[in-house]
Amino acid sequence: MHCASASQITSELGERFRAARKVLVLTGAGVSAESGVPTFRGGGNSAVWKGMPFDVISSAQMVERDLPAVWEWFDYRRGVLKELSPNPAHQAIARWQNVFPEFTLVTQNIDGLHQKAGSREVIEVHGSIWRARCVSCHSRFDMSRDAVRPEACLHCADRLRPDVVLFGEMLPPGAFELAAEKASQCELCFVVGTSSLVYPAAGLPEIAKSSGAYLCEVNPERTPLSDFCDVVLTGKAGELLPLFDQ
Ligand code: APR
Repeated sequence: MHCASASQITSELGERFRAARKVLVLTGAGVSAESGVPTFRGGGNSAVWKGMPFDVISSAQMVERDLPAVWEWFDYRRGVLKELSPNPAHQAIARWQNVFPEFTLVTQNIDGLHQKAGSREVIEVHGSIWRARCVSCHSRFDMSRDAVRPEACLHCADRLRPDVVLFGEMLPPGAFELAAEKASQCELCFVVGTSSLVYPAAGLPEIAKSSGAYLCEVNPERTPLSDFCDVVLTGKAGELLPLFDQ
């Protein structure tokens, strides 16, 4: 395993980091790996629940077939996440929002650890495990403070489901479009802890690059995006991102 060292941060990357005004960061499960959240694919062990692979229990079909089972799985994950804390990668990214005049944080993660680290206005393209949503009127209910979820929709009394993008579902309108717009305007784009396999989120760095942005990937492993990047920092996000503060 590559150990993270400041030497990896090239002088060009350092200069662009100091000069940038419009910066976008896209994160994936890898940014939370050092907090103890298992990743889905590379680097960590993939989750299985009661014999069901995560992409079965976390699917739109399962909401139709057995919503209580889906809630049991997400209630369990919320219970685990409640005990976990942001790591130095989340903390560095939270600091960056006060460094760059126009800073955008887009995450594929539903764990809320960016917000726990102090990040504001996080674009959550896959939703959040800390919200429930009504299956018919789509009202949303925050569960972040007491993590207790309402039995049914407080507006129309229909069933509630996790407000996350499940397998087999499209992204909710709005979040991705805003992220794509910001990607097309940024000068510097960091892609941190994602396997860059799941679209449309994996398309955001391509939008940034083709709009002229300088692209930096942070990952202990190569991904399909690596060859497309201007610079690749090989190592753990929690060890590499704080190096930019130096
Ligand atoms: N720092 C940086 N990157 C890391 C670290 C770390 N400490 N540990 C692992 N990684 C990298 C892995 O090498 C891998 O490339 O993080 C990536 C995690 O990839 P995935 O598990 O595929 O997660 P992600 O890219 O976020 O998945 C995208 O797929 O399953 C769906 O909806 C789910 O949001 C998720 C989406």
